[in-house]
Amino acid sequence: MKKKTFLWGGAFAAHQFEGGWDQGGKGPSVVDVMTAGAHGVARQITQDIDPDKFYPNHTAIDFYHHYKSDIKLLAELGLKCFRTSIAWSRIYPKGDELTPNEEGLMFYDNMFDELIRYGIEPVITLSHFEMPLHLARHYGGFKNRKVVEFFERFAKTCFERYKTKVKYWMTFNEINNQMDTANPIFFWTNSGVKVEAGEDPQQVLYQVAHYELLASAKAVIAGRKINPDFEIGCMISHVPIYPYSCNPDDIMAAEIAMRQRFFFPDVHVRGYYPSYAIKEFERKGYQLDITQDDLAILKQGTVDYIGFSYYMSTVVKADVNNDNKENIVNGALPNSVPNPYIKSSDWGWPIDPEGLRYTLNRLYERYQLPLFIVENGFGAIDEVDAQFNIHDTPRISYLSQHIKAMLTAIDQDGVDVMGYTPWGIIDVVSFTTGEMKKRYGVIYVDRDNEGNGSMKRYKKDSFTWYQKVISSDGSSI
Ligand code: BG6
Repeated sequence: MKKKTFLWGGAFAAHQFEGGWDQGGKGPSVVDVMTAGAHGVARQITQDIDPDKFYPNHTAIDFYHHYKSDIKLLAELGLKCFRTSIAWSRIYPKGDELTPNEEGLMFYDNMFDELIRYGIEPVITLSHFEMPLHLARHYGGFKNRKVVEFFERFAKTCFERYKTKVKYWMTFNEINNQMDTANPIFFWTNSGVKVEAGEDPQQVLYQVAHYELLASAKAVIAGRKINPDFEIGCMISHVPIYPYSCNPDDIMAAEIAMRQRFFFPDVHVRGYYPSYAIKEFERKGYQLDITQDDLAILKQGTVDYIGFSYYMSTVVKADVNNDNKENIVNGALPNSVPNPYIKSSDWGWPIDPEGLRYTLNRLYERYQLPLFIVENGFGAIDEVDAQFNIHDTPRISYLSQHIKAMLTAIDQDGVDVMGYTPWGIIDVVSFTTGEMKKRYGVIYVDRDNEGNGSMKRYKKDSFTWYQKVISSDGSSI
């Protein structure tokens, strides 16, 4: 049975909706130097801000100036919770300061007060792809152990300041994206890391992963001291990997590939490195900076719940090797092949609601911790008429099928699910492409890929549909 306090909500990330990138004392973050791309066209990471280029996250949907009216709309939608992140560079503009930026802290105080006024529970990610740029450029991001200390300071500042306003926290968003070392945006946004010539990306990955897992554990330990009622989770991107066939080679290929999904939560949840990882470090001769003290901290700083995003699944076939990595959709692997049973979105993301039930079961069986679906959704182009009516039936269909799968996992399989927050409930800038036209929201924002538009908000058909889902606690599905 679903919990009484089931958290129906909506999800955002500071950099994808706030805008105000240089206001209120905020410093530039790693995303502020990312240009716009498109499906199949990578976003560029520039050295600094190039005045001749367009950076879509600088203004995003300007929630920074619209937060009151946006939260009012979300209250009308009936949200029980609101997931977003705190932009690290609003609080510590360069990242290595000793004292935080009061104006940045005030912005989130105001935002939380507004949410609480409507009875909406904030669910906060500490780091969602927005490390201060200075930490990336000057320290090499999480390649450098010093950044663990800076993150811990940032986390403590947030916990202390908002301890009476926020109960649910997550440390790093989709921390496992960077397992895909072939696409530079994942290392960059997860960890502020650029792989240099001559470096082994896998070795860099495991060192960075260790420092980040350590930073997460330290934050959990600090948070528990500050408020023992906090619930602090990890956050992973979960794209389940199916074997292409019952050929044992395919089964084993999928099993091994799934370690890419499980490596981070294995440590976050259990507090120690899994045997397959230790064997890999040995086999490859990686000398990693992992101390005995670090291992004790990992053990102590395990998480209370698992937050995860679910958008799609993928399939692997043992005897395939796609050399052209550029054609590989997010979450896919060099031995991925299309799934003949399911269709994909216009951005090539396979649509697989049953995969959500499968994911909930696999994660719950493995970890026995409450699960929180903190992202799910359908990125699509919306057709808008002259009166700004948007009949987004495919989105309604995607979301209802996924909610159905979640309810089945809860009611029939007994999985403990804390809540469901569909991604970008008000349209936001896409992370992977920087586009506006890849929309997820039940609320439309009049802004296009080039930054034109009135910024006005309009309810789509999915608004009323989701409003009913929440008010009926899922039974209208
Ligand atoms: C997740 C991220 O990867 O998926 C979000 O946590 C992101 O930041 C979302 O926006 C959807 O991806 P995209 O590229 O369609 O915006």
